[in-house]
Parts: sequence; C-alpha cells; structure tokens
Amino acid sequence: MLAIREEDPDALSLEEVVSILYSLTFAGHETTNYLIGNLVRRLLEKLERWDAVVGDPALIPGAVGEVLRYDSSVPVWRRITTRPVNLGGVALPAGAKLFLWLAASGRDASVFPDPEIFDLRRTNATKTLVFGEGIHYCLGAALGKLYAQLALEALIKRFPRLSLVPGKAISFPANMCRGPQELWVRDAGRYSELRYGMEAR
Ligand code: HEM
Repeated sequence: MLAIREEDPDALSLEEVVSILYSLTFAGHETTNYLIGNLVRRLLEKLERWDAVVGDPALIPGAVGEVLRYDSSVPVWRRITTRPVNLGGVALPAGAKLFLWLAASGRDASVFPDPEIFDLRRTNATKTLVFGEGIHYCLGAALGKLYAQLALEALIKRFPRLSLVPGKAISFPANMCRGPQELWVRDAGRYSELRYGMEAR
C-alpha cells in the first residue's frame, strides 16, 4: 500500500492505509481463531474423527473445508442493496439492509447430500459461500485455511490423544463471528487439562 502511495499519493490516503490495516487485524484474527476453535471442537466431539486425522494427516485440508461448510466462523454478512432487486421472489427496494446467512449455503441439500452429517471425506465441501462471493470475496480465504491446517497439524503431532473435558458448556461471541470462546481439552497422555480460547470480553 505504501508503494502504491509513493507512486501516486492521490490513489490512497494515509488515513485509508491506516483504516485498511486496522480492519485487516479484525478480519484476519477473530475469523481464523474461531475457525481453529470450531475445527478442534468438531473433531474432538466424535473422537473417531480426531483419530482419523491423527492416523492420516492428509485428511487435514478436507477437515478444514468441511468445518467451514458445517460450522463457519463467519456465518453472516451484511449488505445494502444499491438498486431495487427481486431475490427468491421477494421484492427489495434500493437501500435495503440485508443480513445474509452465508452459512446456510453449507446446508444446501441440492449441493451437499446429507448436509447435517459432518463428513471428513466430503469432496465438494468448499462449494459454499462462507468466504462471500464476487469482488469482495474474502481477501484472506487461502491464508485463513492455511493457518487452520498448520494449527491442526501441530496439535495432532503434539497431542495425538487430546479429548474434550466433559461437561464444559461452550459459549459463543455476541458478534458476527461464531466459535467457542473457550474450549477445555484434556491431554489423555499426560492427564492435564488445557484451556484454549479467546479471552472473554
Ligand atoms: C478463516 C476464516 C475466514 C472467514 C470465514 C472469512 C470470511 C469472510 C467473508 C464472509 C467476507 C465477506 C465477503 C463478501 O463481502 O462477499 C470476508 C471479507 C474479507 N476478509 Fe475474510 N474471512 C476469513 C479470514 C480472513 C483472513 C485471515 C483475512 C486477512 C488476513 C481476511 C480478510 C478479509 C478482508 C480484507 C475482507 C474484505 C474484502 C473486501 O471487502 O473486498 N479474512 N471474509
């Protein structure tokens, strides 16, 4: 961005650079953090899933795709219509404020057979709208998925016998992101309990 500015100071103001960097920290941090939380939760809640990934780490990219389909960390997004539009038989005026359930795209039975089933080996799990669509498609989609893959790779290597601590309720943030604020896990190998999570606000 600084290079763009140097070339043409009118193309990008310093305020715009600051504002973009500021939004990037939020856009990239909570989304990915909750993605990792959802991923670990969904694998550990059925230990055969976790064990399958421990036994075959090649399943990791598919597991990340499937958790995004099944339990995305950004389930909703806002939009404002710029002109009157007819969507699914509903007439919307210009300026309508929409709250889009992007996560619903992952439960579309015409695309995903048995959408309620979490399937590590689903081949088309990425055919959702969880990173948006069009010119505003998530800038960090590839990076976010890579982070989650690397985190899971490290976790299964270090704690292959991880399990959820029974009886711990999971709380979720009250914003547009979704994922466990805390996830209590136990390392069966060492009999110690670990706490993963975003700090409570
Ligand atoms: C890993 C989980 C993530 C999810 C589920 C996610 C989801 C989304 C969604 C739904 C949008 C809106 C797209 C649209 O308007 O059509 C978006 C936009 C965006 N995301 Fe992500 N995101 C993730 C990670 C990241 C990361 C790691 C970064 C940056 C390092 C990032 C940066 C952005 C930016 C800058 C935009 C705005 C793009 C624009 O308006 O042109 N995201 N993301």
